[in-house]
Amino acid sequence: MMNKNVEAAINEQIRREEFSSRLYLSMAIWCEANGFPGAAAFLYRQTDEERMHQLKFVHYVNDRGGKAALMALDKPVADFTSLLDVFQQVMKHEEYITASINELYGVTLEQKDYTTGNFLQWYINEQIEEEKTMSTILDKIRLVGEDKAGMFHIDKDLSAMAAAAAPVPQL
Ligand code: FEO
Repeated sequence: MMNKNVEAAINEQIRREEFSSRLYLSMAIWCEANGFPGAAAFLYRQTDEERMHQLKFVHYVNDRGGKAALMALDKPVADFTSLLDVFQQVMKHEEYITASINELYGVTLEQKDYTTGNFLQWYINEQIEEEKTMSTILDKIRLVGEDKAGMFHIDKDLSAMAAAAAPVPQL
């Protein structure tokens, strides 16, 4: 049987990953409606990534004799002032998720559930990657500032990144 405190903490993380997916969907919609098809493609893919993160936790809880539970989700923000605003919010959200994975890891240590702690290593590494990717994108956006041609190129870059990324694994 799974430790009940760990199960509850993972279920909370399932909610956060599901919300991440919705948040990025909302951002993708805004990008598509505001002339950034590349950023939209990138964020639609992130939406799938977050669903995969959620599902990975769902399967883990169920496979370990617990029960994954879904919760109500907040309405994500739908309006942004610029592409910079979008990616600043992505970065802030990923930092929040990193902190939240670390918190969850702390619960597994407290409860001496080392198996789950070991399972969480995948997420810890994933967060390093996600923060690195987002920070690179954010640096580029900051560099071009308001320059329209620069923005156009960033959008093309994001489109290429989305096209070149490995398919999101189906769990
Ligand atoms: Fe599931 Fe982007 O963190």
